[in-house]
Amino acid sequence: MARKLAVIGAGLMGSGIAQVSAQAGWDVVLRDVTDAALTRGRDGIKASYDKFVSKGKLDAADAEAALARITTTTDLDAVADADIVVEAVFEKLEVKHEIFRALDKVVGENTVLASNTSAIPITKIAAVTERPERVVGVHFFSPVPMMQLCELVRGYKTSDETLAAAREFAESVGKTCIVVNRDVAGFVTTRL
Ligand SMILES: NC(=O)c1ccc[n+]([C@@H]2O[C@H](COP(=O)([O-])OP(=O)(O)OC[C@H]3O[C@@H](n4cnc5c(N)ncnc54)[C@H](O)[C@@H]3O)[C@@H](O)[C@H]2O)c1
Repeated sequence: MARKLAVIGAGLMGSGIAQVSAQAGWDVVLRDVTDAALTRGRDGIKASYDKFVSKGKLDAADAEAALARITTTTDLDAVADADIVVEAVFEKLEVKHEIFRALDKVVGENTVLASNTSAIPITKIAAVTERPERVVGVHFFSPVPMMQLCELVRGYKTSDETLAAAREFAESVGKTCIVVNRDVAGFVTTRL
């Protein structure tokens, strides 16, 4: 059975993450707060698949199948049975906190909660949950379908198992991972 990914936020990054994941065979539920945002996200994904098809880089049938694996919703309860959740909403701690608090109550105890944050410490995001060991940074770069790198960011309490699950997910969608063991703000590429 295909594994289920939930993506919170259908903006630039969330729709890109949904796109590459559905193409890699994940069942994806994409959640945003408005139908308009979801329609924009879905239209963007379709347009991107169409472009890959027109360039001969993706089979039309595979693109159609990938699109069919993405469901959209404004209902947070629809993510309840996800194996992994990737949050990609506005870069505001209070917005992320609200989501992580709610996710912590809705999903199963083994579900990995990942954030695509660019600069907020994972430890700070995880602090509002009862499962800081299951929270991890999965930092994709833009545009997600084109950028090879994914930075895995470990919070102070992130477990090895969680980091391994995050790596497995990112590699399954074709990304190359680097791990950041210190939970500091910002891109590792910028720091280097
Ligand atoms: N844009 C980039 O180049 C880039 C690169 C790497 C990481 N990031 C990070 O990714 C995250 C998302 O960035 P983006 O550029 O995709 O933002 P965006 O503004 O394009 O999209 C954010 C989406 O989140 C939705 N949203 C807001 N509150 C929500 C809620 N409570 N539940 C569900 N959805 C909600 C908005 O409606 C919007 O569709 C940020 O943390 C950002 O720092 C961005």
